[in-house]
Amino acid sequence: MSSVRAEFPIFSRTSRGKPLTYLDSGATTQKPQVVIDAELGFYEGWNANIHRGVYEFSERATMAYDGTRDTVAEFLGGVRADEIVFVRGTTEAINLVAHSYLKPKMTPGATVLVTEMEHHANIIPWQLVGATLKAIPVTDAGELDLQAAERMLGEGPLLLAVTHVSNTLGTINPIAELAAMAKRHGVPVLVDGAQAVGHFPVDLTTLGVDFYCFSGHKLFGPTGVGVLWGRHELLEAMPPFQGGGDMIDRVTFERSTFAASPQRFEAGTPNIAGVIGLDAAIRWLSAQDRPALERLDAELLAAGYEMLEQVPGLRFIARPASQVGVLTFTMDGAHPHDIASILDSEGVCIRAGHHCTQPLHARFGVPASARASFGPYTTEQDLLTLTRGLLKVRELFG
Ligand SMILES: Cc1ncc(COP(=O)(O)O)c(C=O)c1O
Repeated sequence: MSSVRAEFPIFSRTSRGKPLTYLDSGATTQKPQVVIDAELGFYEGWNANIHRGVYEFSERATMAYDGTRDTVAEFLGGVRADEIVFVRGTTEAINLVAHSYLKPKMTPGATVLVTEMEHHANIIPWQLVGATLKAIPVTDAGELDLQAAERMLGEGPLLLAVTHVSNTLGTINPIAELAAMAKRHGVPVLVDGAQAVGHFPVDLTTLGVDFYCFSGHKLFGPTGVGVLWGRHELLEAMPPFQGGGDMIDRVTFERSTFAASPQRFEAGTPNIAGVIGLDAAIRWLSAQDRPALERLDAELLAAGYEMLEQVPGLRFIARPASQVGVLTFTMDGAHPHDIASILDSEGVCIRAGHHCTQPLHARFGVPASARASFGPYTTEQDLLTLTRGLLKVRELFG
C-alpha cells in the first residue's frame, strides 16, 4: 500500500500547512510519477504534431498517439483498437453520442432512459438534442430498481444511458444484467464508466453494451483526455461530431467526405500529450495487483463507515450493498460547505455540494451533501484524520 502511495509525488506536499489528506478522488485522481514523466518527456524530448510530419518526432508522436488505442483496447478487455475514439473526457464522449448517434434518430417525443443517479453529463447532452428523459428510480439503499428498469425498457426508449458507478453514492450498477434486459427489448446501451475504470477491471467483450466512456483524469491520467468506445458497426454508421483537419477523406467547396472512424470523430489537433499520459496511466494501473487494490478499497470503506458512524448527527445518504470507496453524508446543523471548509483547515480535501447529481439529491430530499472518495493511495490514517475533523465540526456546530 505505502509503495503505491509513494509513487504519487503530491503526497510529499502539505495543504494548509498540514499533511495532505486527499479524499476527493471521485472528482479527480492524483497522478503517479510515471504519468507526469510521460507528459513531460514528450514535451521536453520529442514534441511534434501527429499524422502530418514525415520527420522523426512527428512519426514518433503519431505512433505513441495511435498506439495508445491498443493500450486502451486491451485495458477494456480486448476490444478492437479502431473502436477507441479519443475525446476530452466523459462529457465530450456523451455529447458525441448524443449528436452523432441519437440526433439523427430523433422523432417527436422520443425518449432516452437514464437513472435517477446520473451525473449531469449523462443528462444534459440528451436534453440538448431534444430527447425526453425518463429515469429508472433509485431505492432508499441507493440502488437501481431493476423491476422498474425492465418495465421502462419496454416503453420503447431510443437508448439506455446509465452510469457504471454512481459518483455520489459509489453504487456499482449491475450493467451486464441491465444490458441483457435492454437487449431483450432491443434498446442499445451507453455506459458512463467515469467512476468505474479506476476501481475495477472492465471487460467490454462480455458486458453486452454498445457505448462505454471514461475520463483519463479519474484514472490517474491527465485532464482533457478521455475515451469513447463504441461498437464498430455503430461508429461506422455515425456522422462526424465536429469538422476540421484530420477527420476528412476529400474536401471541396461543394462537398466533403470523411475519414473512417475513429479518425472521423477526432477533428483538429488532439490532446497528444494527454493521450501519451493516458497510456502511461493505464500501463501503471494494469501493472498493479488489482484484486489487492479492490480488497483495500472495500476494507477502507468498511472502516470508514464504522468511524463516521461514531460522529453524532452524521447521516449517510444511502448505503448500497455493492459500492466503491465513497462516503457521502450530511450532518445535522452543519452545511456541507461548512464541513468542507473546516476540514480544509486540517489539510483534508473532500467535496461538498450536489456533485453534479441534483436529481439524485432531490430524490433523497437534500440539496447538498459532503463526499469523501478514495483512491488506491488512501490510507486508514486519512480516514482517522477525516473523522477527527468531523468531530471538530460537530463541536463547532453541535
Ligand atoms: C459519473 C460521472 N460521469 C461523468 C463525469 C464527467 O466527467 P468529466 O468532467 O471528466 O467529463 C463525472 C465527473 O465527475 C462523473 O463522476
